[in-house]
Amino acid sequence: MALYAIGDLHLSFQADKPMDEFGKIWRNHVRQIEKNCNKMITDDDTLVLVGDHSWGRKLSDCEKDLEFIENLPGKKVLIRGNHDTFWDAKKTAKLNDLYKDRLFFLQNNYYPYGDYALVGIKGYCYEGHDSEEHAAMLVEREAKRLKESFEAARKDGFEKFVMFLHYPPTSLWEKTSRFTFMADAYGVQDVIYAHCHGEARYHDSLLGKVNGIRYSLVSGDYLRFRPFKVMD
Ligand SMILES: [Fe+2]
Ligand SMILES: [Fe+2]
Repeated sequence: MALYAIGDLHLSFQADKPMDEFGKIWRNHVRQIEKNCNKMITDDDTLVLVGDHSWGRKLSDCEKDLEFIENLPGKKVLIRGNHDTFWDAKKTAKLNDLYKDRLFFLQNNYYPYGDYALVGIKGYCYEGHDSEEHAAMLVEREAKRLKESFEAARKDGFEKFVMFLHYPPTSLWEKTSRFTFMADAYGVQDVIYAHCHGEARYHDSLLGKVNGIRYSLVSGDYLRFRPFKVMD
């Protein structure tokens, strides 16, 4: 049994959005994901997809992309990315009903992995696209959702956590954030995030051990589309 993670599949089985235009690393990326997952992951394993699953805007435009994810080996757990508009934040329970025993949508809930609870949210960091006040409001909203997940897991007796965010945990100039403080407060073992594409962005946020917590970037292109093994 092992826990794997990869983000930013950016699938487009139902949308005209070839990823090759983002650089040669994206050439045949879907086949690479499929090949690497089938080689590395067994059905006893858990694979967390760390957001930006699909270019489809509505659920009906994403069904083939979700089917592709469903057909990957292992138990699949998904968090929301900034491009996942098919996933209405308030309708996570409905998605979990629809995909019961096929895919698990992680938000305002948790997913058990051995004696760990996996918790996750989209998160947010300031990238200069909006006002700092708006960014702060989004960070607060996401932090509230994350706290709900931690508390639900704690209530069920979990004391060990792996925390997933789609956005990096800190903005460019930050060393700490609302999310790193929460990771510290709940004694998280690993913080896993995605979203950063292209070499120029791979070092936008924390990497490696900080305050005893391991921070890992798992965006698809950073991993060259090989899932990252979080633990056995
Ligand atoms: Fe992405
Ligand atoms: Fe993203």
